Amino acid sequence: MEVLYMSLFCLFVLSSLYFLFYKTKAGARLPPGRTGWPVIGESLEFLSIGWKGHPEKFIFDRMAKYSPTVFRTHLLGERAAVFCGAAGNKFLFSNENKLVQAWWPASVDKIFPSSTQTSSKEEAIKMRKMLPNILKPEALHRYVEIMDHIARRHFADGWDNKKEVVVFPLAKNYTFWLACRLFVSIEDPAQVQKFAEPFNLLASGLISIPIDLPGTPFNKGIKASNFVRKELVAIIKQRKLDLADGKASPTQDILSHMLLATDDSGKSMHELDIADKILGLLIGGHDTASSACAFIVKYLAELPHIYDRVYHEQMGIARSKAAGELLKWEDVQKMKYSWNVACEVMRMAPPLQGAFREALTDFTYNGFSIPKGWKLYWSANSTHKNPEFFAEPMKFEPARFEGSGPAPYTFVPFGGGPRMCPGKEYARLEILVFMHHLVTRFKWEMLIPNETIVVDPMPIPAKGLPVRLFPHRS
Ligand code: HEM
Repeated sequence: MEVLYMSLFCLFVLSSLYFLFYKTKAGARLPPGRTGWPVIGESLEFLSIGWKGHPEKFIFDRMAKYSPTVFRTHLLGERAAVFCGAAGNKFLFSNENKLVQAWWPASVDKIFPSSTQTSSKEEAIKMRKMLPNILKPEALHRYVEIMDHIARRHFADGWDNKKEVVVFPLAKNYTFWLACRLFVSIEDPAQVQKFAEPFNLLASGLISIPIDLPGTPFNKGIKASNFVRKELVAIIKQRKLDLADGKASPTQDILSHMLLATDDSGKSMHELDIADKILGLLIGGHDTASSACAFIVKYLAELPHIYDRVYHEQMGIARSKAAGELLKWEDVQKMKYSWNVACEVMRMAPPLQGAFREALTDFTYNGFSIPKGWKLYWSANSTHKNPEFFAEPMKFEPARFEGSGPAPYTFVPFGGGPRMCPGKEYARLEILVFMHHLVTRFKWEMLIPNETIVVDPMPIPAKGLPVRLFPHRS
């Protein structure tokens, strides 16, 4: 046994020395940093600092120790470099498909077997061309009334006449219900619920250790993914018939848009591809936006002066409407202060901490060599919580977003460049509609002051954010 330990130790020391003094063909040195333990590298530190609620610590400790621009590490079984600051973000975002391309951990590939994010570059390009059209602001105008309609039902079912509620599961319910309605026209709560359970399994599978044995979260995630895809294909087949018979409208939801969209050569998408795309949208859009909604509730509870300004803005809009009249696009455009608040929430608690790219070729960045195949990570926190870009970064200050707002590449909750979140505008609308209903109905207080935050991988309050509600007198 001792021999085995000694051999492992020597291997570790040798590999560390190799990386420390390794020079590439071009003579440039690898970025400074450490590769951590054999196989697992620094994954455990990376994840566990997030579980303790301070994912930025992993980044800032290493920026201070090694380099403020780029450092080396080893994450999820891969050699990786973390690009920091606005310049790092700019570099990765503007070199998409030139020096870098998107990369997702192997577990994602297994749960989305033919997913566009991972498998086929051609499919990904098709998807990227189509999504902005389907989700662009003009296309979303008419969705605002539907969002308002679902929000009213959601608040009536989940919040009204309750003394206390747990916010995070409610926020998930809201964003999922909306997505079911707007993507595939499923509105009945019982049917939404039927989807919600496999969806939660799927989402947990995506962030689990990829061991495919009966009963593991990963295995349950794969099964749930197959179930949801099968259900989606059945919905797609029925929709095709309904569209042909004139029973469904070409504009009723995102599914109809996808079925009728064609690529440059006039070809429409395969049913399974559409199912995968809808699945990707449901996953991409659901937990991120619900995390943002939950943190808005938290910060507004903690900061009454900010709550008051949001309340006045939203009441101004509510008073301008006739009784029962639904919110419209123009109403949402007036919610400027509320959006600044939502942005400040996403600066302080970015729903996605960052994302990976893969180096397509050997290249040099800031004098350091980045070998082909390395995984590259951009981190929202490296700018969001950096005093170089946001003065007093731990202070909640929505005024940062007034005027021309933060400098380019510093505020990146939705990423940037060609892979910037295509659901950004959709997310803005659903978050603002949520804020409208929330503040025009209630004030609230947190039942667990200073509730611990867990980042796994989205930030969530450890106990789901229970609050006591104080309805406004009507
Ligand atoms: C507050 C809510 C949201 C946040 C913070 C967010 C954040 C992000 C970020 C940071 C990325 C880029 C990752 C990268 O650089 O690789 C991304 C990609 C993506 N988002 Fe969102 N997102 C949100 C809501 C949504 C919604 C509502 C949808 C769907 C309607 C959506 C669909 C997607 C898709 C499909 C991608 C992948 C794009 C690609 O790979 O090219 N997201 N999101």
